[in-house]
Parts: sequence; structure tokens; C-alpha cells
Amino acid sequence: MPTKATKRSPRIKPGQREEETLRVLISHQRIRERVKQMAQEIRRDFPNEPVHLVGVLKGSVLFLADLARELGGEVSFDFISVSSYGKGMDSTGEVKMNKDLDVSIEGRSVLVVEDILDTGLTLKYLLVLFEERKPKHLRVAVLLDKVERRIADVKADYTGFVIPNEFVVGYGLDYDERYRNLPDVCVVRLGPRGKTKIEA
Ligand code: IMP
Repeated sequence: MPTKATKRSPRIKPGQREEETLRVLISHQRIRERVKQMAQEIRRDFPNEPVHLVGVLKGSVLFLADLARELGGEVSFDFISVSSYGKGMDSTGEVKMNKDLDVSIEGRSVLVVEDILDTGLTLKYLLVLFEERKPKHLRVAVLLDKVERRIADVKADYTGFVIPNEFVVGYGLDYDERYRNLPDVCVVRLGPRGKTKIEA
């Protein structure tokens, strides 16, 4: 089954291997500094409480790992997997659960950790689902926010960077399951054949 990001990838013919050009949008250094600041903001709001991080697979994994280390104090985590798109670039508006949480969030201070807020349909679905499970607090941290693309009426409590409407990869985000391991967030474009270039 294709993943969310696969379904959101720029249009290429099935099986086609176009060359891609990557441009660094946000360097790892900037990400590291911003994640540290976000962790401080979160800890300021929850000074002496255990914080339960809920990562949305798979794009949030690197962000969650860095955020967890910067948070300090008592932190636990769990993961959920959902699919939010039909074929091509357009959202169907439907969100389907692939894997639920392992443990109950009732009475916990929950921080949903997302890689990127796009239409907001995934987050809307998750917030409705989690609210029903009666957490003590329910907050949202996103690394990237494509504000212009928003359809659902949702916003994050903690946002790393607002970015333009470009398809991005790296630091957990993929294009056909590739590039998740890039340390920087990069804009990916399909270009002329040749070597994959990374431009600063
Ligand atoms: P939303 O429901 O439209 O907000 O979808 C958010 C999900 O779409 C993210 O968790 C990503 O998996 C995927 N997505 C949206 N934009 C991008 C992008 O630029 N690169 C990679 N994945 C993206």
C-alpha cells in the first residue's frame, strides 16, 4: 500500500524515473536551533508534567526523536499511522487509520507531533479521534506549515517553520519513500536528466 507521502508526490508516470533537483530550504543547523526553541516553549507550558508524544508515522520520526531529546523531564512516546489521500495530488478528504496507538491517552498531557501541516485534514481527523479519548491536555507540534494549502480549520500550538507551497523532502519527509534521511529540508523538483544535484 502506498504511503501518504507517496500519494502526495508530484505527478510522475508510474514507474518513471525522472532526475530530481533538490534545493536546501531549511538547513539542519536552523532546524536544530528551532527544535530547541520549540522544546523550551513546550516545557514552559508543561514545566513539571510528563509529556506523552504521539508521532504521526512516518514523517515525524526524526523531528520527534530530536524534540524528545531537547524536552528533558519525563517524556514518553507512541505512534499512529494514517493515510489521508487518494491518487495523485488531490486530497479525497478521507483519512484512514493504518495503525492505532499502543497505549491509552486518557488523563495524559498529549503532544501530537506532525512533520508537516498541509490541508490539515489529517490533523483534524486525529484531533477529533484523540479528543474523544479524554486526554488531560491535547496540543500539536508541527515542524513545517504550508499555510496557503489549508482546507480544514486547524492550527498547531507549536510551529517550526511556515513554508511556501512547495513539495519538500528530508528530515523525515519523503518522495516515494526516498530522502527521509536528508539532514536538511529540501524542495524537490523534477528536472532534466543528469546527476541528482543538491543546491544550497
Ligand atoms: P494534510 O492532511 O494535507 O495536512 O497532510 C499532511 C501529510 O501529507 C503529511 O504528514 C505528509 O505525509 C504529507 N505531505 C504534505 N506535504 C508534503 C510535502 O511537501 N512533502 C512530503 N510529504 C507531504
